Amino acid sequence: MSQKHGFGRGLTNYGDADFALYLRRSFARSMGISNELLGKPVVGIAMTPSGFNNCHRTMPELVEAVSRGILAAGALPRPFPTISLGEVFLNPTSMMFRNLMAMDTEEMVRAQPMDAVVLIGGCDKTVPAQLMGAVSANLPAIQVVTGPMTTGRHRGERLGACTDCRRFWGKFRGGEIDVDEIDLVEGRLSVTAGTCAVMGTASTMACISEVLGMSLPGTAAIPAVHAARLVAAEEAGKAAVALISRPVLPSQVVTEKSVENSFRVLMALGGSTNAIIHLTAVAGRAGVRVSMDRLNEISDETPVLVDLKPVGEGYMEDFYAAGGVGAVLRELRHLLHLDTINVEGRTLEERLAE
Ligand code: FES
Repeated sequence: MSQKHGFGRGLTNYGDADFALYLRRSFARSMGISNELLGKPVVGIAMTPSGFNNCHRTMPELVEAVSRGILAAGALPRPFPTISLGEVFLNPTSMMFRNLMAMDTEEMVRAQPMDAVVLIGGCDKTVPAQLMGAVSANLPAIQVVTGPMTTGRHRGERLGACTDCRRFWGKFRGGEIDVDEIDLVEGRLSVTAGTCAVMGTASTMACISEVLGMSLPGTAAIPAVHAARLVAAEEAGKAAVALISRPVLPSQVVTEKSVENSFRVLMALGGSTNAIIHLTAVAGRAGVRVSMDRLNEISDETPVLVDLKPVGEGYMEDFYAAGGVGAVLRELRHLLHLDTINVEGRTLEERLAE
């Protein structure tokens, strides 16, 4: 095939093209896209909607927002599905399928004619899987997350997903509350779209993606239903188009230093221990080996700065209001590698200077 990416970008006639490209263009025409748009760069959108994934309920509007950004920046958006892993509906465990999703993502990014890709995930295993796939495919890529749920209310207290779910179930089993009460609580635990409202695996991996530099700054903690979440998705679409003419590859972003920064922030967040497994896998795709001794050193040196459930008190909406990942990075500045770059090609030092 004479041209790997796009549907024939920059092609004015078929004099220098081969039959495979002609075939691709003629089939692309059947999608009802004009020749003008088919001549633009192509940005794939790895989308993960599923009727078995409540955390991804906002996927259609996120895909629309990313597409809007891509079109506004002069490229052609092409959403495509990969498998989706909804944490609580998978048996025997979602972890069994993380690598399958990583392979799905990697191969579809590699096989289809795109110049860059935006990956949209959220629930626990989906973001690590997408990052693993993106690093292996090593095409310009930006991670977007669905964002955390906001909390429900019950008799004057806030409730958020799994942490409070276990607490109330314990009370019910212990006879402290009756069946009517537990029934009431059931409808108040998960009240919006988005990932679990606490600093569980999904929120931790969203933060890590931002620290690695694979997501745009300031986006990890935006609540799923906040208007800013859609603006962030639109910005990700625009940034993906910018990557085509000025490529920053995942292999340049996920490095020993950015992985170490991510472990540092993980400790400061009091984040999910699952993140160690996932980050090690993402780093492995970039050829970065994680030393458990170094991890222990980082743990010893790093203060815990964030007080969110399940180990603390607050919820992700509080973390967002308090400044999110940017606020943590500023506090940890003296412990971080500041010369790492993100998907925009900006160093962490430049981000913190702002
Ligand atoms: Fe999806 Fe908790 S069930 S993040």
